[in-house]
Amino acid sequence: MPTRLAVLASGRGSNLQAIIEHFDNLARERVAKVVLVASNRADSPALIRAATASIDIANFDGADDGTQLLKLLRKFRVDLVVLAGYLKRIPPSVIREYAGRIINIHPALLPAFGGEGMYGARVHEAVIASGARESGVTVHLVDDEYDRGPIVAQWRIPVEPSDTPESLASRVLAVEHVVYPRVIEMVAILQNTESKISV
Ligand code: GAR
Repeated sequence: MPTRLAVLASGRGSNLQAIIEHFDNLARERVAKVVLVASNRADSPALIRAATASIDIANFDGADDGTQLLKLLRKFRVDLVVLAGYLKRIPPSVIREYAGRIINIHPALLPAFGGEGMYGARVHEAVIASGARESGVTVHLVDDEYDRGPIVAQWRIPVEPSDTPESLASRVLAVEHVVYPRVIEMVAILQNTESKISV
C-alpha cells in the first residue's frame, strides 16, 4: 500500500508541485501518493496546484489547537505529513499523534539560520548578511521546537560573492525540488518496511 501523504503549504507551492510530479512519474511501484493538500490560507496557490492535479484540498485555521488538523489527517488516513512552505507552528497534539511522521524542508543548513520567523527570503538575507560561504537545504523531522527536529538529509550549496538573496534563493529552491521528493520517497520506503516488520 502506498504511504498516504498530506502536504501542508502556506504559499506558492512549488515544492508541492515537485512532489506531485515525482510520485506521478515514478515508473516503479508507487511508494507514496499525495492524498490531501491542506493550507492555513484559503488563497494559497498551493491549493490551486493540488486541485489542478485532482488532489483533495482543505483549509484549516493555523491558529487552532490542532483539533481541525487532526480531524483532517484522520479522515484522509494520512501516514506521513509533509510540510512544504508551511509557516505556522504544528500544535503539540498533532506532533504527539504523528511523532516521527512529520517532515519539513528548510532553505538553509540547520541548525544555522533557522528558528521562529526564519522563512523564505529572510533566511537568504540572513545568510548573505552573515558572509557565510555556503548554504543549502535541510530536511528534518518536526518536533515541538521550530527547525530543531532530527535532521534526515542535507545538501550543501556554495554562496558566491556576487550572490543576492534572490539569486541564492533561486539556486536553493531548484535543489529543494530535487532533494525533497527523493527524501520523502526514502522515508516512505522506511515506513513501509517498518510496518511490515512490526506485523
Ligand atoms: C521553500 O523555500 C521552503 O524551504 C521554505 O519556504 C519555501 C516554500 O516555497 N520553508 C521555510 O522557510 C520553512 N522555515 P514553495 O511554497 O514554493 O514550496
